[in-house]
Amino acid sequence: MSRDIHHKSHLDTSPPQYNGPLYPLDKDAFRKSIPILAVRVPASQTATVLNSDLTRRYLVGIPKVRPVVRNPSDPDGDRLVLLNITSQAEIPPEPLEFLKSKTNGFTDYVLNLDYDYWTASEILQVILPEDLREGAPVGFATTGHVAHMNLNDEYLPYKKTIGQVFLDKNKLIKTIVNKLDNIDTQFRVFDMEVLAGEPNFVVEHHESDCRFTFDFSKVYWNSRLHTEHDRIVSLLKPGEVLADVFAGVGPFAIPAAKNKTCAVLANDLNPESAKYLSKNVQDNDVSDLVRVSCQDGRAFIRDAFQQIYDMPFPPYTGPKISKTLARKLQKQAKKASESVPVASNSDSPPSRRTIDHFVMNLPDTAILFLDAFKDVITSQEVKDAYEGKMPLVHCHCFTRELEQISAEVDIKKRVEEKLGHTPEEYSIVHVRSVAPNKEMYCVSFRLLPEILFA
Ligand SMILES: C[S@@+](CC[C@H](N)C(=O)[O-])C[C@H]1O[C@@H](n2cnc3c(N)ncnc32)[C@H](O)[C@@H]1O
Repeated sequence: MSRDIHHKSHLDTSPPQYNGPLYPLDKDAFRKSIPILAVRVPASQTATVLNSDLTRRYLVGIPKVRPVVRNPSDPDGDRLVLLNITSQAEIPPEPLEFLKSKTNGFTDYVLNLDYDYWTASEILQVILPEDLREGAPVGFATTGHVAHMNLNDEYLPYKKTIGQVFLDKNKLIKTIVNKLDNIDTQFRVFDMEVLAGEPNFVVEHHESDCRFTFDFSKVYWNSRLHTEHDRIVSLLKPGEVLADVFAGVGPFAIPAAKNKTCAVLANDLNPESAKYLSKNVQDNDVSDLVRVSCQDGRAFIRDAFQQIYDMPFPPYTGPKISKTLARKLQKQAKKASESVPVASNSDSPPSRRTIDHFVMNLPDTAILFLDAFKDVITSQEVKDAYEGKMPLVHCHCFTRELEQISAEVDIKKRVEEKLGHTPEEYSIVHVRSVAPNKEMYCVSFRLLPEILFA
């Protein structure tokens, strides 16, 4: 006997045709009632029907619809097991017999679906004009509570409706924006317009176990750089010193301090970035490890060597510990020092007065800032401090070269033109494809005394 293993449900659960206004949407117009058949089953027996191979294929099986419900006209009585058919005639004799013997009979039931039932994409499929349905937007990127979309021109007449539908369907999202094409060229901030929700752009975003607060409309942030942020931080040894020339709101600086106990000079010319960077330093409890400045990158590089030499960070004494543990250890140390003579600190680690790494993530122009390293160290004591420990530079850049080999040739040429030398320990890593013909790379190299020392 051949069995109908996959009973095809004839239930049409697609959203109804929509002829109402596009904005605001008439959500009531999305109500849909689907008559189906159900069986009455004592609560203790529902598993028998749900788990039987004979009847499983007739269960309602619709996403987000529970197959067992209370009977609206007899809430304390038999449960209703919902089926995906409308009449008993659709069930072959064997399962029909089974259902008759194991249940208290069939009953009609009405499945009520409404606007909340369908996904954003399903709703858009009935409200957008037919020629726009196929390529309709299906999602967005999020930063904190803000969802950002990048609508193509043909969807702009429907932007408010599209925004509202995505807002309705994503409870964690409070604001939907559309990124406009123009980007502020100096601070890399996108222009955006609110499509739906509250016009609040101050987001709280989490990355690499750190909390970042920032105004998404006033500073640069790109969640797609998460892997690159992690990669650079993974290159740092615990306790090393990092100078972040274009720090933004801190996605390199804060994890470096928090997760690697690195000391960080973090700089950004955008006062809004510097403001939120300072807040993030505090919120992540790394005020002792990160110094924030708001300078032009070139001036920052020129000042950094002497500044950290004159005002070194305290020595690295091991991984950062929680405040509670620190207090406990302090108490223990105090007790111990009362009974034990104070040890000489001649072996204690040195203060941190040299920079181990520079990171320069301003891919459009960072290479142009490299000449700031030329002859930057003038005093003999600072030169001595860098003897045998030249800093590494991690400089982000764009290239139009699509092949890695030609990209490397192009990047090295530009770097060497600016430095006036061929640095050591080159490594060039592809970060991401930004656009057709635009690849982002990170070039790392070690500076040389010939470059730094006047
Ligand atoms: C591409 S963003 C990178 C931010 C951050 N490092 C990140 O990975 O998200 C570049 C940053 O450089 C800052 N900036 C632009 N021009 C600058 C300059 N001349 N000096 C210092 N910072 C600058 C911008 O405000 C922006 O925050």
